[in-house]
Amino acid sequence: MSNIVRFGVSLEKELLQRFDECIKEKKYTNRSEAIRDLIRDDLVEKEWQEGKEVTGSITIVYNHHKRELTNLLINIQHDYHDTILSTQHIHMDHDNCLEIIVVKGKPKEIEALYGKLKSAKGVKHGGFSMTTTGVAII
Ligand code: NI
Repeated sequence: MSNIVRFGVSLEKELLQRFDECIKEKKYTNRSEAIRDLIRDDLVEKEWQEGKEVTGSITIVYNHHKRELTNLLINIQHDYHDTILSTQHIHMDHDNCLEIIVVKGKPKEIEALYGKLKSAKGVKHGGFSMTTTGVAII
């Protein structure tokens, strides 16, 4: 605990009220943890901007009956085998598949992979969550 620093912040009363409402909705129990998370979000964003090694997850939803699409998605993923750590395939119903692709690497590679998967004709929806390897984040 000796490396914990306390500091004061001056800001408008209304801004603080809005911040408190916001963190209450997000289930934070105190301002300190909410501020720590804001700082961490900023540091993770910086890792992505500076091209550091990062991690993330891509989700795609598609109809597996479109055989050409299924083959294309597999080919794209094989092209990025160095970036993809794992792929989880879930059969949502008779027609729809959901894939969660966990990635690690340089932001440019990950963004290119996401772009190719999301833009593949027949992919109903693509989502992307960027995060960190955790190495440089406290
Ligand atoms: Ni499936």
